[in-house]
Amino acid sequence: VFIEAGKVGYKSPSNIALVKYWGKREGQIPANPSISFTLSACATTTKIQFKKLDSPSHGFTFDFFFEGSPKPSFRPKIETFFKRISPYCPFLTEYHFTIETSNSFPHSSGIASSASGMSALALCLMEIERMLYPGMDDDFFIKKASFLARLGSGSACRSLEGPLVTWGVHKEIPDSTDLYGIPYKGEVHPIFKNYHDTILLVDKGQKQVSSTVGHDLVNGHPFAEQRFQQAHRNLVRLKPILKSGNLEEFIQVIESEALTLHAIMMTGDPYFVLMKPNTLEIINRIWAFREESGSHVCFTLDAGANVHVLYPETEKEKVNQFIVNELVAYCENQQYICDRIGQGAVKL
Ligand code: PMV
Repeated sequence: VFIEAGKVGYKSPSNIALVKYWGKREGQIPANPSISFTLSACATTTKIQFKKLDSPSHGFTFDFFFEGSPKPSFRPKIETFFKRISPYCPFLTEYHFTIETSNSFPHSSGIASSASGMSALALCLMEIERMLYPGMDDDFFIKKASFLARLGSGSACRSLEGPLVTWGVHKEIPDSTDLYGIPYKGEVHPIFKNYHDTILLVDKGQKQVSSTVGHDLVNGHPFAEQRFQQAHRNLVRLKPILKSGNLEEFIQVIESEALTLHAIMMTGDPYFVLMKPNTLEIINRIWAFREESGSHVCFTLDAGANVHVLYPETEKEKVNQFIVNELVAYCENQQYICDRIGQGAVKL
């Protein structure tokens, strides 16, 4: 249908991988399958106003505002994204877009906003497409939105739905595909309901290594093939764990995945150490606390120094006390973010 102008909006969360995606092929195709917890507090809100151009433009015409102000440094990212998705969204050259976006978490907190940001943007664009092509089926809508988000930032394709999302072909996960994320359909024990993720901000600086450089380093890495196979095995291991709620085994898989991601970075060419001394202090404190208290608190890491502290709702009081008393001291300016497992994006 012909639409002169309109407005759409989405709030989309970040996600934290349990089995990590690290390494990709041409076209943002993951080298191995992954699974993540969708988060809830760390989210991006994006609103787009669109207006028909008098004649289709050659490039893309848009204004971009981040937290209320124009942000020229973000424009190239959006240009690249639009270019990549334009074969699938021909309407991009027919409209002018005013994109306004803001994050729920503090700017330059060392928290990557690419997953929440790209998924919110992709959902807004799909909403426009749905207005132009009414009658679009919901299943197509969400899959294509995740497909577009993937082309923005791989892990963004796992942020649209919740509470657990898989992405990448795996022989024991039916329907899991390299093209988009899908909600995990296996049985999930109630212990994972409301699972907590307290993010300790160890280093708020610019990321030392961009994920593009990180993924590139996996190409030709001497341990790459073993790592990809390990990710497949860890997904197989995780299935019965998610079903039974066996947290001892859950911890083993999750912490090993985090350390492996960092080990790959340390053994690459070039090599990087992404942890800071305080990252290791926190890990050691978590291990000691688990030993002393019998708690099931564990950690995971992204490709940076911040630590995601994971624990069940049933241990909330005990672990919160431990975090405040012992771990916060290792955070930059004592900063941390309380998040938990979430259900995915919402339309505004
Ligand atoms: O989405 P990207 O290309 O920024 O890759 C991020 C990958 C990790 O966050 C390190 C792991 C993952 O699976 O999310």
